[in-house]
Amino acid sequence: MCSPNNNPIGIFDSGLGGLTVARAIRNAFPNEAICYLGDTARVPYGSKSPDTVKRYAREDIAFLLSRNVKVIVAACNTVSAAALPELINCYPVPVLGVVEIGAETALEDAPKKIGIIGTETTVRSQAYVRAILKRSPETEVVQKACPLLVPLIEEGWFEHDVTRMVIEEYLAPMRDSGVNSLILGCTHYPLIRPMLQDFFGPSVRTVDSADAMVHALNTAFNSNQIGRANTNNSAASLYYVTDRGTHFSKLLAAFMGENDLPVEQIRCDELTLALEKREAESKK
Ligand code: DGL
Repeated sequence: MCSPNNNPIGIFDSGLGGLTVARAIRNAFPNEAICYLGDTARVPYGSKSPDTVKRYAREDIAFLLSRNVKVIVAACNTVSAAALPELINCYPVPVLGVVEIGAETALEDAPKKIGIIGTETTVRSQAYVRAILKRSPETEVVQKACPLLVPLIEEGWFEHDVTRMVIEEYLAPMRDSGVNSLILGCTHYPLIRPMLQDFFGPSVRTVDSADAMVHALNTAFNSNQIGRANTNNSAASLYYVTDRGTHFSKLLAAFMGENDLPVEQIRCDELTLALEKREAESKK
């Protein structure tokens, strides 16, 4: 048994979409404090180059480490796909991404064909495809980037005909190709899960990052990779954002299910400084 650890669980995302993951973690581990970072000033990461996504990820992680987190959850699929393979073993605390665990979850009931949807950078990285094929080389995999879905979701169009039309346009070929399982490879997509489920039909299992990450954290706690909080520490939770845009409150409520989170705004250069400080210290 490892000793109790009351430090927060660090979670970061390009913006507020990762709150779908934070919400599931909070519900599954109610005693734990959460330290969330949403880089809302630089969102979206999904259309940026892998080099930029890697730099942002290193800054986000350095910031969370400066807040003494005991584990880092990269709630962003784009980061998990484009940056984590290089970064995962570089830190003093475990770093968990959504890709490997999402692939494992999708393979649980041995589907013949898995569909993956995500941002352009996630799809181009092929990270989900590799994660699936290394575990199950005989599984067929198809993927499709759906760049219009994030802005539609941010507009709150969860049950809107335009969103339905965009899904039809992007995903009819994937549905008609007979996938048995669909990985929602973007933090925003759980908000349109009912529409996607309806479109693909009840026989297609939809897998999202939030469920998969709760599973990964459970495993990390049970295998003593991380210590659990031994008191109810949830009041120490803090949510950092780098910008409060026009849709901020609406999105906070949609993604997290509440408005009254303890939110603090920081500047992007605080993320850059956290990385510079970490790098300077590691050279000493
Ligand atoms: N959080 C991103 C992801 O899960 C979606 C938004 C973005 O493009 O930054 O891929």
